[in-house]
Amino acid sequence: MTNSLTNTEIEARIDDLLSRMSLAEKIGQLDQITDPSPELIGEGGVGSWILASSATAGNDANGGLSVAELNRRQQQALNEGPHGIPMIYGRDVIHGHRTVFPIPIGMAASWDADLVERAFAMTAAEAAAEGVHWTFTPMLDIGRDARWGRVAEGFGEDPWLCARLAESAVRGLQGSDYAAPDRLAACAKHFVGYGACDGGRDYDSADIPPRSLIDIYLPSFKAAIDAGCATVMAAFNEVDGVPCHANYDLMETTLRADWGFDGFVVSDWNGVAELMAHGVAGDRADAAVQGLTAGVDMNMVDGCYREQLAAAVAAGRVDEAAVDQAVRRILRVKFRCGLFDQPLTDPKRAAGLLLCDDHRAAAYQAALGSLILLRNRDDLLPLMSGGQGGERGVSGEIGLYGPLAHARRELLGTWCLDGRAEDVTTVAEALTAAVPDGVRVRTSPATSGDLDALLARYADMNVVVLGEHNLRSGEANSVADIGLPPGQLELLRAVHAQGRPVVAVVLGGRAMALQNLLPYCDALLFGFHPGTEGGRAIADVLLGKAAPMGRLPVSLPRHTGQCPIFYNRHPTGRPHDPVQSSRYADMADSPLFAFGYGLDYTSYQLSGLSLASEQVGLGDSIALQVTVANTGARAGEAVVQAYSRDEVASVARPVQELKAWLRVALDPGESRRVQLTIPVAELAYCQRDFTFAAEPGWFRLRVGLHSGHGDEVRVEVVG
Ligand code: GLC
Repeated sequence: MTNSLTNTEIEARIDDLLSRMSLAEKIGQLDQITDPSPELIGEGGVGSWILASSATAGNDANGGLSVAELNRRQQQALNEGPHGIPMIYGRDVIHGHRTVFPIPIGMAASWDADLVERAFAMTAAEAAAEGVHWTFTPMLDIGRDARWGRVAEGFGEDPWLCARLAESAVRGLQGSDYAAPDRLAACAKHFVGYGACDGGRDYDSADIPPRSLIDIYLPSFKAAIDAGCATVMAAFNEVDGVPCHANYDLMETTLRADWGFDGFVVSDWNGVAELMAHGVAGDRADAAVQGLTAGVDMNMVDGCYREQLAAAVAAGRVDEAAVDQAVRRILRVKFRCGLFDQPLTDPKRAAGLLLCDDHRAAAYQAALGSLILLRNRDDLLPLMSGGQGGERGVSGEIGLYGPLAHARRELLGTWCLDGRAEDVTTVAEALTAAVPDGVRVRTSPATSGDLDALLARYADMNVVVLGEHNLRSGEANSVADIGLPPGQLELLRAVHAQGRPVVAVVLGGRAMALQNLLPYCDALLFGFHPGTEGGRAIADVLLGKAAPMGRLPVSLPRHTGQCPIFYNRHPTGRPHDPVQSSRYADMADSPLFAFGYGLDYTSYQLSGLSLASEQVGLGDSIALQVTVANTGARAGEAVVQAYSRDEVASVARPVQELKAWLRVALDPGESRRVQLTIPVAELAYCQRDFTFAAEPGWFRLRVGLHSGHGDEVRVEVVG
């Protein structure tokens, strides 16, 4: 599809359509349903077909897409609909289509904006080739509480990292023109504050103070809108008592008046009807009126608009002008999608594209980025020096145990509709194929703890692959305990008891509490469900054919009891007192592993941190320079991070905030002087009087390899 029209021409075409549409036909455009009937299509009563069969579509064993069927029903809408308005097809293409990339939090672990953009571009190409027009991603909810299952779908706990990757995702999905046949309209979701749900319980209330909303939860959405995101999805939760689906301040004032968003807002599944459960709507008619009035333009699957709006207009409860406004926004996106120019998909497009070598190669690279090496005692890893056997490496046998050593579907993670388990090579298969001649991989059925313990005695070293099933994260899958699932620590302990070195590999959909594993493993490789190529990536990292590229996009807690835990916390009035301060009596309050942390197969040293100028104006940028050296024996990529601290401000400010980062590829022994630039405008925050701006004062800037590392300099911002 391509869009041949200018914005002016589009608006004129919309004016013409609106002038000829009946109220019923207009309301039909606001309705998104599953499985539209020929009757409804023929009446022009279907604005959108959602290609999902349930609210938790990401775990459906659905049958995939039929381009022929999608074209057939679209052709009916064109031929029989009163005005030949095409339907827009939406689907949860969240982190891949047939080629599945790591879950989004795993893509965030790559700290590689270009890689993330490529991943979403390839995802769009595959999904568009199979007839999808619009995807319900990127999910931009800040995730500070790993008990919440949907942390899997976002880019982590930090507003800055999440905002930059939001831009990457929107650019990747939409390109410069999302009418192109290999692009999708994107959807920034869930607007807003869904991740702040009480207790980490999905759908629960989000008690967000106004400044936190502005400084923590809105920036990633603002970045997506500034990147041209076509649509936004309202969040299930209420913010400070006002459900998002009835929140005019959010949907109209912030999103449109303040940010200039001109696409459309879609409700979440049943979200308009749920205004009744929230206790703010007395019936479906009330819910429909509130939703439309608040600026929720399209109604996902609960039918409130289709059923109630005509009567509401007739009764004067809502103006037809409000319906027209919503229709205009939806038609505008349909024109921009190129649906009026080329509404049908070429059935031949997908051939040779799905799971093609380039996409698999990118998925493999992204999988490496989703793997974070947390511990590596005595350089146990890689098991082979440079990926080959030899004196230092394994020469006889590797024991391989654990439930995820033989897993396929689990590696694809949550929200995966079109990936297939049979496309996945398990860790066991990949490791067996990758070891050099003479080295044997001895494995056994995942659950036989006793048998494993016996076999483990004979190996040079043992690898135990543990972690979460994909159904333990994602929508409606929050947990009260983010430690290992039952039985897995016992297995690790049994294998460790055999006295051979142990590598623990843990794969999850969230940050997991891993403190109780440490006594039983010499090396610990943590990963977020890594996608189609995850098995190969893990095997290659274990053997040293590749290095773990990931750095934590979240703080990894010691214990569930620390949740929510995040690095950019406020200092409090007692940050240092060894007794009466913000701490726990029974455990350190620091994370087990810090935001931004991750080891590599080489080592790095930073030195010579300097400022281009120790005084800058409000309109300037802060230029930090540092020398990065690869002090190890292998090539690698350092992830250099810059954090700021506002020393004295009109409100309490975080102890540090990520404001820039760089991936720096270095050969062994190589060093390079690099610059990280922070526009002073990026130091803006919601001040005491709710002015959002940067202000003069002193700032500490730290450049390090994670949020607990590095040297500091001070800079003065002058007004
Ligand atoms: C779900 C999710 C949303 C998804 C939508 C369509 O309830 O909250 O993220 O896009 O329904 O499947």
